[in-house]
Amino acid sequence: MSQTFDVIVIGAGPGGYIAAIRAAQLGLQVACIDAWTNAAGGAAPGGTCTNVGCIPSKALLQSSEYFEHAQHHFAEHGIGVGTVKIDVPRMIARKDAVVKQNNDGILYLFKKNKVTFFHGHGSFVKAVEGGYEIAVTGAQPATLIGRHIIVATGSTARALPGVAFDEERILSNDGALRLQAVPKKLAIIGAGVIGLEMGSVWRRLGAEVTLLEGLPTFLAAADEQIAKEAKKAFDKQGLTIELGVKVGEVKTSRKGVAIAYTNAKGEAVTLEADRLIVSIGRVPNTAGLNADAVGLQRDERGAIVVDDECRTNLPGVWAVGDVVRGPMLAHKAEEEGVAVAERIAGQHPHVNFNTIPWVIYTSPEIAWVGQTEQQLKAAGRAYKAGTFPFLANGRARALGDTTGMVKILADAQTDEVLGVHIIGPMASELIAEAVLAMEFRASAEDIARTCHAHPSLSEATKEAALAVDKRTLNF
Ligand code: FAD
Ligand code: NAI
Repeated sequence: MSQTFDVIVIGAGPGGYIAAIRAAQLGLQVACIDAWTNAAGGAAPGGTCTNVGCIPSKALLQSSEYFEHAQHHFAEHGIGVGTVKIDVPRMIARKDAVVKQNNDGILYLFKKNKVTFFHGHGSFVKAVEGGYEIAVTGAQPATLIGRHIIVATGSTARALPGVAFDEERILSNDGALRLQAVPKKLAIIGAGVIGLEMGSVWRRLGAEVTLLEGLPTFLAAADEQIAKEAKKAFDKQGLTIELGVKVGEVKTSRKGVAIAYTNAKGEAVTLEADRLIVSIGRVPNTAGLNADAVGLQRDERGAIVVDDECRTNLPGVWAVGDVVRGPMLAHKAEEEGVAVAERIAGQHPHVNFNTIPWVIYTSPEIAWVGQTEQQLKAAGRAYKAGTFPFLANGRARALGDTTGMVKILADAQTDEVLGVHIIGPMASELIAEAVLAMEFRASAEDIARTCHAHPSLSEATKEAALAVDKRTLNF
């Protein structure tokens, strides 16, 4: 016997679970299927983000930052704590508890919103009159019919060709978040977001960390000035970042991993490490969807092909999040999930890709929204730039963290804010003001004339806006 729904969501990551909740809020009958299983064999909705991504990485970043502060910064506040020790299994257990709270929170939200949750694997069977038949296998086997299907199956870590993840010596994000001891030497291939965040965690806890990056430029997607500032800060912290490398053979042994590579000067080098994290991007996950049974179109990368409104080539089948084009970010997946649910309900929402913020949760944090200076130059757009250093911000001084700056780029004629780039304390929170300003198409003058609480880090944003008009007050 099959059960019929208005909407069936496959995948309960940030794209899928949010789409399911929004569709249910709009009065639709919704089912959501997710395969993720925790160590106890139970359902663990929330996807990559909740289980092995955003949430656990931020939990470990927090623990390791406290450790570093206790070791190196408490003394200057007059706080003596003796020898500071790290209990890695306990830190990991706390992280697991944080993950579990989030999994349980999503199950609660499903109940509250009357979303029917199926713990299992969802796949297409066939197109039927007015919809699609979906099979659920695993913990809660079922046959479902959906008028609309939202595919939100996310992504998985990309492996180096011929170098499979064993999660022992060669780790994806999953293994990197489960280490039970601090490796003495940690190698990371790919100095992108995961490499920098995970590298920061294990360096703070005492690992000697070397990142091997293929591109000659550091953080190529970020504003150049901010990327330079970040590189300086990471160098100072002792993160070794080698740019422009070509990775060759990777060999594992009982002792560890040996990575042969050619450095930027063309020299052959072998890096020996206890563990290797491979963080060279992620691939869309459509394996097991049986997409060919219904002719669901994918591109050469395996991503489901969608239009600007997340419609696939099949009527009534939508796809959102990491499994489609665009940035692989949880909040982008969520925005698309909400928009698709509203479209199914007959509304006309819009996702503005230009105001999707990026955050790297290192210390200093790095966050940006909109255009970089190099993008504006390449586009031949006339702009004005204003920067303000945290060194001149009272709250940053009180905090003891004055690294970095806020930089605002505004149109030379209209003064409209075109991009905001922040490196420094709480950049992840400060960027929200910039996103809002850009969403409302504010000018730099609008930010400069907005009263900001004193003393607060956000005053640096106001001052950067004043700097666009060359009239900073505190620098
Ligand atoms: P996912 O979260 O990948 O969820 C897909 C779900 O679908 C999974 O639960 C999977 O099990 C399930 N699934 C797949 N196929 C099937 C099937 N056939 N049947 C049933 N279920 C299925 N982004 C940020 O914005 N901020 C961050 O701080 C951040 N940190 C990250 C840190 C790390 C280490 C990693 C790896 C990623 C991070 N990301 C972060 C990226 C973020 O996790 C993803 O962009 C986000 O999870 C994408 O959401 P999604 O819903 O598209 O897919
Ligand atoms: P990434 O795209 O951020 O970085 C991958 C890096 O690896 C790039 O710098 C790339 O040039 C390099 N690279 C690729 N192939 C290589 C090779 N063979 N040898 C050496 N270097 C190579 O991808 P990452 O870090 O794996 O993260 C995946 C995605 O997850 C990110 O793009 C991001 O969307 C998301 N994420 C977001 C976070 C956040 O928002 N704070 C945190 C972590 C991940």
